[in-house]
Amino acid sequence: MDQQAIENYAINHTTDHSELVKELISVSEENLEHIDMLSGRLVGRLLSLLIKISGARRVLEVGTFAGYSALTMAEALPEDGELFTCEYNERYEDISRTFFEKSEAGSKIKLVMGKALETIPTISGSFDFVFLDADKINYPNYYAMILPRLEQGGIMVIDNVFWSGEVLDGKSDKGRAIDQLNAIIRDDDSVEQVMLPVRDGVTVLRKK
Ligand SMILES: C[S@@+](CC[C@H](N)C(=O)[O-])C[C@H]1O[C@@H](n2cnc3c(N)ncnc32)[C@H](O)[C@@H]1O
Repeated sequence: MDQQAIENYAINHTTDHSELVKELISVSEENLEHIDMLSGRLVGRLLSLLIKISGARRVLEVGTFAGYSALTMAEALPEDGELFTCEYNERYEDISRTFFEKSEAGSKIKLVMGKALETIPTISGSFDFVFLDADKINYPNYYAMILPRLEQGGIMVIDNVFWSGEVLDGKSDKGRAIDQLNAIIRDDDSVEQVMLPVRDGVTVLRKK
C-alpha cells in the first residue's frame, strides 16, 4: 500500500478546516519556514473531536507555532472555554496573534510567550485537555510537570511519538527522549492510552 496515497485519502475524508484556519495555513506556507511543524488536518480534527466529545473547557498547548492547532482547538471549545498556548519563538507571534484576533474563538486563547518549562508553572489551575507538541528533547520533563495538573478523566494528546521512526533505533537525542516518554507512559498505571499511527504518531491518553 502507498502510505502517502492512503494518508491523502484519509485527509480528504476528514472534516475540512474553517475558512479562517485555511487562511492561516496559506499565510503560514507563504511566510514561514519549517511549515511541516504545523500538525495538519488529521491531528487537528482529532484534537477538535476529542475536545467536543470530552467536553473539555480548560486546555494547555505546548508549542503554538503559527497557531494552527490552537485556533482549531479554540473553535471546538465552548463559549466559556479557555486555551493557554505556550511558544518561545517570537518569529511566530505576529501570525498567531493576528489570527487569534481575527477569530470569534480568539478571546478563548491566551498566548504565553517564553520557554514552556518556565511559563507553565506561571499558569494557575488544572487542565482537562493537553496537547504536547513542542521541543521533543523535553517531552519527559513536560509529562512530569503537566500530568499532576491534568484533571482525573482529563486527556493528553502527544504529537510526533514516532519521530520519523527515530524512536526505533535510538540514534538521535530527540528520538531517545521521545522513546523514553513512550516507555514512561506505557508503564504508568495512572493513565490509559492508545498510540495511533496517524501521521508521525499520536498518543492519546486519559488520566484514570
Ligand atoms: C511542532 S511546532 C507546534 C505546531 C503547532 N502545535 C501546530 O500544530 O500548528 C513546535 C513549536 O514549539 C516551539 N517550541 C520549541 N521549544 C519550545 C520551548 N522550550 N518553549 C516553548 N515553545 C517551544 C517551537 O518554536 C515551535 O513553534
